[in-house]
Amino acid sequence: MIWLGIESSCDETACAVLEQGDKVRVLSNPLYSQIQEHAVFGGVVPEVAAREHLKKIYGIASEAIKMAGVTFSDIDAIAFTAGPGLMGPLLVGASFARGLALDLGVPAYGINHLEGHLAAAWLSAQDLKPPFLTLTVSGGHTELILEEPGFKYTAIGRTRDDAAGEAFDKCGKLLGLGYPAGATIGKLAVGKNRKFHHFPRALKGKADAEFSFSGLKTAVLRYVESRSTEYIQENLGDICASLEESIVDILVSKTVWALKKTGMKTLVVGGGVSANMRLRELLEKYCLPRGIRLCFPERSLSTDNGAMIAAAAIRREKEHALLNIENVKPWMPLAL
Ligand code: KG4
Ligand code: ZN
Repeated sequence: MIWLGIESSCDETACAVLEQGDKVRVLSNPLYSQIQEHAVFGGVVPEVAAREHLKKIYGIASEAIKMAGVTFSDIDAIAFTAGPGLMGPLLVGASFARGLALDLGVPAYGINHLEGHLAAAWLSAQDLKPPFLTLTVSGGHTELILEEPGFKYTAIGRTRDDAAGEAFDKCGKLLGLGYPAGATIGKLAVGKNRKFHHFPRALKGKADAEFSFSGLKTAVLRYVESRSTEYIQENLGDICASLEESIVDILVSKTVWALKKTGMKTLVVGGGVSANMRLRELLEKYCLPRGIRLCFPERSLSTDNGAMIAAAAIRREKEHALLNIENVKPWMPLAL
């Protein structure tokens, strides 16, 4: 069975072709990133994003088909991101998916974006079966959710304000690193002094899985304001390492708390921030000696892409739990 996956919830127009046999294979996964269109504004402008998706989506879908060595008529089913995300961009993806599905005479299924992020990890561990604990860390979400059979989700905890990726991006902007800044901070931090400055770790000592990152942004603002530009530039690597440590430290300590609380022996991580090497390193350090199975997406599949959306649909197809557009609730996060 050949699937076309379409992702357009934010600033990436992404399509992928996946082959579902005994194992699922990603045949192609191209995307167009709108970073340049939004860079001048320092963040994603929903209107601009929707227009760019409209311009690019057919071209990216055609590219995915061509790269996979198939034709549009080989497509058996389409999966698209139904939400959560920006309304205009979501509408472009959904309309394109439904129009194409009608034309090809195949079904189109709406997929929850966060379920997509977790399915990216499943692609590398296809024997994975719930129950397990999930950590979703992206530009819009930071949540610890228990997944049980039948796609039953229970929220263990989530952020009260900013998401982890948002914290990377906003703090990076204050340090003059452009948008998005997560990957840049990760690169600059390699081999640098993580103890150079102690940035705050909100709610760390609290026995729960609640996160808060908005105070960190203020702390970085005060830090930057009270030092010269030269000082920041000279010590940029150490500052990035300290900042990364404060975000990752919180993510790991709350995840450890949730693992103990739920007694889960498997942890599945997804979302753009799951590309972070320090997060991977510290979670491995905790999980491996304790026999806890740790599933990450391939790094290239951590950030938004079309393959994760098709993968999520395939996971649901295997369980006869696919949702068509009439019964998806685009505004719903995984667990409320
Ligand atoms: O999942 P994603 O592509 O989009 C959303 O669904 O939000 O995540 C994007 C986020 C951005 O905030 C970006 O800065 C962050 O993921 N990110 C990283 C890294 N790569 C991307 N954060 C930390 N380290 C990275 N290597
Ligand atoms: Zn995402």
